[in-house]
Amino acid sequence: MLTWEELEQQCNKCTSCRLCHTRTNVVFGVGNRNADVMFVGEGPGEQEDLRGEPFVGAAGKLLDDMLSIIDLDRENCYIANIVKCRPPNNRDPEDDEQEACIDFLRNQVALIKPKIIVCLGRVAAKKLIYPDFRITREHGSWINRNGIWMTAFYHPSALLRDLSKRPDTFEDLLELRNRINELKMRIG
Ligand code: URA
Repeated sequence: MLTWEELEQQCNKCTSCRLCHTRTNVVFGVGNRNADVMFVGEGPGEQEDLRGEPFVGAAGKLLDDMLSIIDLDRENCYIANIVKCRPPNNRDPEDDEQEACIDFLRNQVALIKPKIIVCLGRVAAKKLIYPDFRITREHGSWINRNGIWMTAFYHPSALLRDLSKRPDTFEDLLELRNRINELKMRIG
């Protein structure tokens, strides 16, 4: 297994897919490397690409607000994406781009050893939970994979566009909080 330093170095110079040609910065991940809870989005947007940090644009502000409802923040959880480079015009990352990048995330998970992974949106849920995952029907459901509890929330960008999805996400957040409490996790 790679160390954090090796992993970050490899990621920063990665040229395994076409997204390397259009990126400004690789967006590796941010947060607590000993976290019990990890959030995974789909890929960097414009602001993330410019700053090299995940979820720092409008969707990121909403994510921070969502986390604060249940006493989480960027210091007590870890936040990463399926692909580490921005897909042009914020299109969905292609299957081959996801496949080229997924080992970086696998390594991050292996190093962090989270107890819970929350997929943010359809793309992450399909890649990490199962390919037929239906976010509208299955958000907030939980499945245990190799000892890690996994769930998916609506993507914060979807919550910016469609306010009617927010009550469901509030419920999903409360259930996440319950699970953290039940597992007597360290979040600080
Ligand atoms: N959307 C994502 O999925 N990830 C980010 O880092 C920013 C926006």
